[in-house]
Amino acid sequence: MQQLNKVTASAPGKVNLSLGVAELRDDGYHELDNVFQAVNLRETITLTRAEKMKITIGAASGINISEVPLNESNLAYKAVARVANLAENPSNVHIHIHKEIPVAGGMAGGSADAAAALLAANALFGARLNRAQFIYHAAQLGADVPFALQGNTARGFSKGDQLVDVICRSSLNFVMVTDENGLSTPEVFNRFDQITKTDHRAFDPTKLLQALQSANPYEVAECMGNDLEAAALDLRPELSDILRLERTHPSVLRAMVSGSGPTVMLLTPSAEHAVELCAELTKRGRNVMQCNTPGISARIEDSE
Ligand code: C5P
Repeated sequence: MQQLNKVTASAPGKVNLSLGVAELRDDGYHELDNVFQAVNLRETITLTRAEKMKITIGAASGINISEVPLNESNLAYKAVARVANLAENPSNVHIHIHKEIPVAGGMAGGSADAAAALLAANALFGARLNRAQFIYHAAQLGADVPFALQGNTARGFSKGDQLVDVICRSSLNFVMVTDENGLSTPEVFNRFDQITKTDHRAFDPTKLLQALQSANPYEVAECMGNDLEAAALDLRPELSDILRLERTHPSVLRAMVSGSGPTVMLLTPSAEHAVELCAELTKRGRNVMQCNTPGISARIEDSE
């Protein structure tokens, strides 16, 4: 078989329609029960065989990439290194990352990089990973990486990596209000531990799962919830200004912190409402991004 020199793959970002957090485990992770929803913002990774390992990065407008590490600690790099270890004829590669997902914004952009890099490296090196190996290595790279491979809608248990498919018939339209300064996920979980009462029970998504079977975003809006929201707000009190839109703006069905924040997701009744809301918030000086469902699984885009 002819050797490939260049492979491009992409993977979706996500929002958590619900994020239930339970106890802290011995390994430093929390038990979760959450509902992931992939969206149409995607990360694209291109791997090209090269003399030396190298990472470059580009981004859609409005995305601050200054905090993305361009060394061995980059998740895409780690994913490529894992696959290289399993392949018979690996090589050094130039990793180019194109970002559409806000950095450290609670939308799993780094996880999408890892998922796309796993797929691309598998194809480039002819490593022939099977499904179980993909899922294993994805979970080792990060709790959200298995979902970035799978996309669409899923319930995530354990540290978020044990996935069960969920039926979502609703087409959901979001305006994401991003923050130039990210929030650290471990810090938000730590704050959650500090401020949460011992009798706390993780958010129960049962009603949300039923609502997702309807095609009605109003029903979905009523059933969303995020146990990390209070912790994110505690660390970034300014977010409450945006969350207030839920009560004060007719186009906002629900305003909720996305994952561990600081991005806030605004669920709107339709794509038209989302476009208008984006324009309005941009005029008010906010950084906004429109996105919608579905967000399809990680996939190979091109190879040569
Ligand atoms: O797996 P990932 O690197 O994305 O997780 C980042 C951090 O977020 C973990 O080190 C942990 O502090 C926190 N986390 C958690 N419980 C989870 C997922 C993440 O406490 N289920």
